[in-house]
Amino acid sequence: MSLPPHFLDELRDRVTVSSVIGRKLKLERKGREFLSLCPFHNDSKPSLSIVDDKGFYHCFACGAHGDVFKFLMENDGLKFMEAVEQVAALAGLEVPKESPEEQQRAERRRSLQEVVDLACRWYERQLHTSAGEPGLRYLRERGLSEETLKSFRLGWAPDDRKALQRAMKAEGVETDVLVEAGLVKRYEEGERAGETVDYMRGRVLFPITDRRGRVIAFGGRVLGDGQPKYLNSPDTPLFHKGRILYGLAQAREPAHKSGELLVAEGYMDVIALAQAGFPAVAPLGTALTEDQIAELWRITPEPSLCFDGDTAGQRAARRACDRALPLLKPGHSLRLVTLPEGQDPDDLIKREGKKAVRDLIATAIGLADFLWASELTASPTNTPERRAAFFKRMRDLVREVADQTVQLTYRDHMEARIEAVRRPQGRDQGRNQGWGKSHGGQQRGRAGDRIRGGRWAPPPPPEPVGSRTARARVGAVLPRRQQQVILATFVHHPGLLDELGEVLATLALDDPFLDKLRRQILEINADDPGLDAEGLRDHLMSSGYSDTVDGLLSDDALHHAGFARKGASHTDARQGLAELLGRFAGPLLREQLFDAQQEYGQTFSDASWQRMLSLQSTLQAITSASALEDAN
Ligand code: UTP
Ligand code: MN
Repeated sequence: MSLPPHFLDELRDRVTVSSVIGRKLKLERKGREFLSLCPFHNDSKPSLSIVDDKGFYHCFACGAHGDVFKFLMENDGLKFMEAVEQVAALAGLEVPKESPEEQQRAERRRSLQEVVDLACRWYERQLHTSAGEPGLRYLRERGLSEETLKSFRLGWAPDDRKALQRAMKAEGVETDVLVEAGLVKRYEEGERAGETVDYMRGRVLFPITDRRGRVIAFGGRVLGDGQPKYLNSPDTPLFHKGRILYGLAQAREPAHKSGELLVAEGYMDVIALAQAGFPAVAPLGTALTEDQIAELWRITPEPSLCFDGDTAGQRAARRACDRALPLLKPGHSLRLVTLPEGQDPDDLIKREGKKAVRDLIATAIGLADFLWASELTASPTNTPERRAAFFKRMRDLVREVADQTVQLTYRDHMEARIEAVRRPQGRDQGRNQGWGKSHGGQQRGRAGDRIRGGRWAPPPPPEPVGSRTARARVGAVLPRRQQQVILATFVHHPGLLDELGEVLATLALDDPFLDKLRRQILEINADDPGLDAEGLRDHLMSSGYSDTVDGLLSDDALHHAGFARKGASHTDARQGLAELLGRFAGPLLREQLFDAQQEYGQTFSDASWQRMLSLQSTLQAITSASALEDAN
């Protein structure tokens, strides 16, 4: 009895060779492979290599070679069907009992595939005849290299109703088989009933393969503006559009190696990307199906979908995400790359080169972020009711995730996000965390300022550190004596610049002399980090501060702030300084953090994320340094 061929493939996909061999032999991992003593000859050092990616074992000494089934047959002495039964049991699958009709159908598929391949070879040859000249010129003009033409097996279908039929007849292939393979169309009714014509005519052909690279159908493009622009083979026993990803066979290995797989929208995108060194696939002119998503995940856990930035593209991206959401499993997701409006990857490569693609991939966002942004921009959130509706939509989406582990992490993520929008950190929470005791709630309600024209508009970029207004605001509330104390502490304990220098950089001192000294300290530290107090003082002296530095830093001037004096312990200095800084820089930093969070919530740009992190860590430095105070 024979088995459906896809069943064996399925078993090979599910059960790794190493797991089967590992039950009998001791394996030693070596990179992506395993090594073991070979059981098929008298082995002294491990010469049996087991490669799960490829699904085989190979002995470098005796040449023994095979897949899971072969191993069980050779090593355990099982018959083929027994080996299949055993592997199926490991995979948790039943071995399908194949009826004679099914066997016949499998035979038929095999022969159909051979016929399609025969046709493919003929089409490839046509591209290099005089009839195929316009097609070859077209593909070359679109920038495809000879190597790419070969690797994707591009071809030419002559503009002739019978050319393929004649060629195949010469090879002994029946017209009925051509019809069943989707290569020839037979009119069923009308005055032409019974007449047969070649399905693809006057088009360049893009062979579509199954995942093992066997040609099963074609996509054909007209050279000019004719309609339809692309024509796909009809569904046949070999070809089911929704299960196939164009380019999979070529992308598989490089994508598996690099972990990077792009999903584009069209044939030419896949080819242009591949030629530029980016493994890519595309569905065949339809939305991504569940089967296709599963297929992507067999290659790499986080494929990146590339969609046009226009409305239609974004809608398609959203559809794909909605499809993926119920299927998510731990570690598996989608990433989203948005292209400039009106461009596809092929255009982008042609206009701006590979580097542009590389840069664009770096802007990919995760599925959760994309869903948030997509819902947020779908409708206004400028009233309490509309915001409630937005939150509800996000929570409904979370419930779509079938896998319980992922659903929980999605819930945590979205709830944290909702919470951050409801009560942005750096306002109310600042108080809870012991920041700026007297300034905590001062600017509440700023989120409302962001609502303009019925939409939640992206906030203006946060004020650059040290800008005029920022300086004025901080300087205004900082008495001169306190400014002096801060500088003195840094001069006496330059080690604190590591941790709190960033805060010093955000301060603005209204006394021009002190502000100049502040900048001087930062500059010296930037040029020569790690100086001790002595060294820093020498630098300052030699930069023209000799007259005043000593007076400024004298114990006398600092008699209200013992921690700022030369003899103070590092711990006291750190704590006193942090408290002072928190009091004066805290409010501004939290305001900037709030803006950065808002901006990130709107744009999810890397820049706003980085700004958010850096502000958070600065605030963190202040709070953790002054936290000791509370403990004491
Ligand atoms: P596009 O219209 O975006 O074309 O179709 P494209 O890929 O950029 O093609 P070029 O660059 O003009 O050659 C995207 C995909 O949609 C399917 C095809 O799979 C195509 O690659 N499609 C498009 C069809 O199936 N039929 C059509 O008539 C058009
Ligand atoms: Mn295109």
